[in-house]
Amino acid sequence: MRRFLKTNMAIALLMTAASAQAEDVEVLHWWTSGGEAAALNVLKEDLESQGIGWTDMPVAGGGGEQAMTVLRARVTAGNAPTAVQGLGFDIVDWAKQGALANLNEVAAKEGWDKVVPEALQKFAKVDGRWVSAPVNVHSTNWVWANKIVLDENNIEVPTTWEEFTAAMDTLKAAGITPIAHGGQPWQEATVFDGVSMSVLGPDKYKAAFIDLDESVLGGPEMKEAFDRMAVIRANVDDNFSGRDWNLATAMVINGEAGFQMMGDWAKGEFLNADKVPGEDFVCIRFPGTSEQVIFNADQFMMFDQGGAVSKEQSALASAILSPSFQSAFNVVKGSVPARTDVSDEAFDKCGKKGIADLAAAAETGNLFGSTAHGHANPAGVKNAIYDVVTAHFNGEYDSETAVMELVDAVSIAK
Ligand code: GAL
Repeated sequence: MRRFLKTNMAIALLMTAASAQAEDVEVLHWWTSGGEAAALNVLKEDLESQGIGWTDMPVAGGGGEQAMTVLRARVTAGNAPTAVQGLGFDIVDWAKQGALANLNEVAAKEGWDKVVPEALQKFAKVDGRWVSAPVNVHSTNWVWANKIVLDENNIEVPTTWEEFTAAMDTLKAAGITPIAHGGQPWQEATVFDGVSMSVLGPDKYKAAFIDLDESVLGGPEMKEAFDRMAVIRANVDDNFSGRDWNLATAMVINGEAGFQMMGDWAKGEFLNADKVPGEDFVCIRFPGTSEQVIFNADQFMMFDQGGAVSKEQSALASAILSPSFQSAFNVVKGSVPARTDVSDEAFDKCGKKGIADLAAAAETGNLFGSTAHGHANPAGVKNAIYDVVTAHFNGEYDSETAVMELVDAVSIAK
């Protein structure tokens, strides 16, 4: 009996020591689809191999709006998670509020300044302090197509808006839903990223959505952009309302629909369904935007837990930025690395194109933050744009009214 007690006490002591050594990280994120969960596992396993436990805090909802609501409640209650998935201006907002830990030590040790693209540093490094660890670079101006459906209907990959509308007409006539779409404001805004770029071109996209220039927000090209949104609306199925983005992707995967306009997280769904780029599906830039990359980068913000950055937060940040993780994770996620020095060798056709497009766009001044995903403007303006784009998509406004509403909504929100 005494021996039994002694052994038990020894085990208990060992367990206490172990848990004191390796605290769990609690990670709040919205990666709940099949492809997203597969990518997240790469990170979980990486940390587990370092003896760091993972407490999962998933909040479903593409684009992360619901996750951000949960985050605000947690911070208000004085109980911020260790690490939180964040996008663009949201990160800057939390940093300005003093809610984020300082990662400068690990960033300096690992030379992040030299390898993280400047466009991302704008959001990851606030007032000289690294506050978040960039995981990837996604981009929204992509179209995903079922290759077999295209071939069977003699449709060439469209490169212009006219070819794209002709392809939609052909599919409709063949009884196939031309566009798979999920009717949620963030998804409509994601489509609007590519559509508006295709009409406005890079200079006017910047003037409208980054500089908030009223003459461009209210100009004739903006009306044309809304007209194109109306064409897309006319090519979705009757059940689009409220549909999650990954269920729309599934419609393209199973040949129920021809195209989906969505960020390259959609590729994660194709891969998760064992589909091969170039054979089962194709990835193309939204017609008319082949030179531009509208980017959206996921990062993990490290929340201040009262005191200096914790050992686990530094380890998580370091794991995220490691070149091998950047390759392994982004191959699965559909995105491209958040470092400029990672080889494209392990990436498929679409991934290689994504990496090359990003480098070329950065070089030629064609890289712009996504309006839909909080990389063009803070949440207030972003949400104002969501409201107008969604109301128009759902037939509340015609294009002319939408343009006027856009000018008003942005001027109130900014
Ligand atoms: C985006 C996020 C992506 C993604 C998508 C759908 O905001 O940056 O990583 O998975 O939402 O959930």
